Amino acid sequence: MHIVSRVKRQQSSVCCSSEGCDFLLADYIREYVKGECSNSPQGREFYENHLILVAHYGLKLAMETGADPEIVELAAYLHDFSFVMDEKDLNHHEARGVAIAEKLLRQFNYPPDRLEKVKRCILNHSSLIHASGGSPEEACLANADIMSLIARPDYWIRFSAIANQANGSSDWYYEQIAKSWPLLMASARAMVADKFDELKKKVPLAV
Ligand SMILES: [Fe+2]
Repeated sequence: MHIVSRVKRQQSSVCCSSEGCDFLLADYIREYVKGECSNSPQGREFYENHLILVAHYGLKLAMETGADPEIVELAAYLHDFSFVMDEKDLNHHEARGVAIAEKLLRQFNYPPDRLEKVKRCILNHSSLIHASGGSPEEACLANADIMSLIARPDYWIRFSAIANQANGSSDWYYEQIAKSWPLLMASARAMVADKFDELKKKVPLAV
């Protein structure tokens, strides 16, 4: 069973409790984000190769570390959402993502204290150093973000080359992996060790 489905059973935030339409908030957000990806320049590919994998690894790490799985899962689906909505927004996507998540989750009366935790995850997800010094949920999301890059090298090498239209270089991808690998949690490194070894065989990494 996929980790997302397994952990779902332990979660409790219901976003609609009228008769006949109970559903979990994380399920709704996942399906909403999936649909928006399909209608965006990033396409469904971005969801399949990144967002769902970040949720997958984030939940695995949450189970190991005791982090709140629902916080991690919601943040995983929403952490890059501003980039999905506007691909020119990459440099400011963390702060914009926080604003979007707040607006979205408030519509479901998501508890303010839990909303703050989701927002912190999104704000710090691009910095392993900041995230690792934050809450367990922040650490899980930032680690899972990098794990997804390691798990899908072909997608990210292509993505990196397209994003860097000036010279078609994939240096961004290799640099991200090289600088992030030593900063990952030991359990995160263990979960993707086989994929990291495969990657090292394909490309020279300065690690
Ligand atoms: Fe991401």
